[in-house]
Amino acid sequence: MSPKKAKAKAKGTTAAASSGPASHATEASTPATTTATASIPASKVKTSAAKSTTTTTLAPLPPIEYVGYESEHQLSGMMSLIENDLSEPYSIYTYRYFLHQWPKLSFLAMDKDKGACIGVVVCRLEPHGRSKRNRGYIAMLAVSKEYRKRKIGSTLVLMAIEAMKTAGADEIVLETEYTNQSAIALYQQMGFIKDKRLYRYYLNGIDAFRLKLFCRPQVDTVMDMEGLTSQQGTA
Ligand SMILES: CC(C)(COP(=O)(O)OP(=O)(O)OC[C@H]1O[C@@H](n2cnc3c(N)ncnc32)[C@H](O)[C@@H]1OP(=O)(O)O)[C@@H](O)C(=O)NCCC(=O)NCCS
Repeated sequence: MSPKKAKAKAKGTTAAASSGPASHATEASTPATTTATASIPASKVKTSAAKSTTTTTLAPLPPIEYVGYESEHQLSGMMSLIENDLSEPYSIYTYRYFLHQWPKLSFLAMDKDKGACIGVVVCRLEPHGRSKRNRGYIAMLAVSKEYRKRKIGSTLVLMAIEAMKTAGADEIVLETEYTNQSAIALYQQMGFIKDKRLYRYYLNGIDAFRLKLFCRPQVDTVMDMEGLTSQQGTA
């Protein structure tokens, strides 16, 4: 997300108190408060074990646990990860804007041995535009460098997508620097398409791509077309 937008969104927010792989096998254990993981198809969370033997040799991973956002005790771990891995600065109010209003749409990947947050995804869901379609939004996604290319990022995104769909998302969008090949490839693998190019969207002057995933058929469009067809039929 653009920090300009994040700041604008966070402004006026009252910040009310809110509330693995051991050798590449992804362990999606989730606390009782989060149920989104249960519906993730195992086939979509494929591991990279086969690949790693033929390409780069990746060190075995400690057990990874995926958990939902619960409270501010998780915030400092999330913030230090995102500050290290994303180019844009976010204030604590931006985090609270998302986490307090949509706590069930953010997820963390934890290194169980270290008790450290090594991956995070932060989202929101709200009606958008005149159509009032429910638009999910992935505001932040990051995986700590030494844990990358093990499907942790895509597992977090899948958990977020499932949670937003369950909450009624019609579509899901996000922005990413147009040069961010790894993020673009990750999202395109999951069915996101390039929707728009946003000129000088980021503070560093770099353009963004807006990527979009359609979660449901475009009912409005179908109805418009049906209306058009019936009008044409009576003319
Ligand atoms: C983008 C990011 C979250 C990916 O996390 P990850 O855990 O390494 O991703 P995954 O292992 O789930 O990769 C899934 C797919 O993404 C793509 N991908 C991931 N890293 C890639 C890289 N370095 N180069 C090219 N494609 C890459 C691949 O298509 C990969 O599928 P494959 O393994 O079958 O080739 C991570 O690189 C990151 O934190 N980057 C810095 C922050 C950032 O750019 N966030 C996105 C902002 S929108």
